[in-house]
Amino acid sequence: MAASKHLIALLRSHIAGDNEQFLSVAMQVAAHEARQGHGILAKQLRDLVDEARLPKVSRANRPVPFAQPKGELAALISASYSDTRLANMVLPTALEGRLRRIVTEQRQQHRLTKHGLHSRRKILLIGSPGSGKTMTATALAGELKLALFTVVLDSLITRFMGETATKLRLVFDAMLETRGVYFFDEFDAIGSRRAERNDVGEIRRVLNSFLQFLENDDSDSLIIAATNHPDLLDPALFRRFDDVIHYDMPDPSIAEGILKKRLSGFDVKGMHWKHIAETTCGLSQAEISRAADEAAKRAVLDDRIRVTRGDLSGAIAERKASAQH
Ligand SMILES: Nc1ncnc2c1ncn2[C@@H]1O[C@H](COP(=O)(O)OP(=O)(O)OP(=O)(O)O)[C@@H](O)[C@H]1O
Ligand SMILES: [Mg+2]
Repeated sequence: MAASKHLIALLRSHIAGDNEQFLSVAMQVAAHEARQGHGILAKQLRDLVDEARLPKVSRANRPVPFAQPKGELAALISASYSDTRLANMVLPTALEGRLRRIVTEQRQQHRLTKHGLHSRRKILLIGSPGSGKTMTATALAGELKLALFTVVLDSLITRFMGETATKLRLVFDAMLETRGVYFFDEFDAIGSRRAERNDVGEIRRVLNSFLQFLENDDSDSLIIAATNHPDLLDPALFRRFDDVIHYDMPDPSIAEGILKKRLSGFDVKGMHWKHIAETTCGLSQAEISRAADEAAKRAVLDDRIRVTRGDLSGAIAERKASAQH
């Protein structure tokens, strides 16, 4: 154990905001532990100090930061990195298998191309709000250690005829240049918002150019489109995707998994999971996960690490009541 004087020195440097001094005290603690014959502990400390000294981006094992989208592209796509993995999601076995297959095919692309085969790259996700579509795109980017480029549909859809297609081209050109996960979220907005303006001709033009770009695209990037309203989409569009994946409402076993995962940092002894999970019927994955967070908040603010059955069932009932309004 580090002596109290080390702890005091650590706190002093922390308060002074002196990072270098902080790490240097940590190294002294490592040396102290090594002298005591605590080799593993000493190594752990040294490794942590080394990690802390790395520049921030490489610390999370992120790809070298590429230039952020510039010029007109900056308004069309927003870039982010994600540490989310598929293991953070609770998924039905078949769905998880399909998502893992995308990851494997992407990772093993070189082996497939050697035989003239293509990895799955163009994916359509269909599901109601809060069913995990955005989280899937984030998790795929995290698994593949690629940047997630979310296409900002609002700026893509312009008031001027013909311009939307030009902007789409910019996005598809970027896919060739920078490999990444390109996420067209709320994809149906292309259709519905145009319909509000009674501009049917332009909707058709935009969808057609998307189809064409999608068909011609042979970049290395992963293209993911997500929609809540598949009925708004032209059936021709579905055929252009390598995979069309449906997200269902969670059954009690998925609900139980999400609740347990969200509350894994808390004491949940004696929780009647099966019973609780059944009460979530009608709630989406997002609402279930939010109910778990609400229950955890009650415990935290009550100074407990134990989340009780009452916390959780109260939070679920509250979510259900607000879902009905
Ligand atoms: N399969 C899942 N496992 C664990 N948590 C999930 C899962 N699906 C969704 N969640 C939780 O719900 C939140 C919202 O999900 P997400 O944003 O992916 O839904 P969405 O389908 O994109 O919804 P929308 O159509 O409204 O955009 C996630 O951030 C996560 O906390
Ligand atoms: Mg979403």
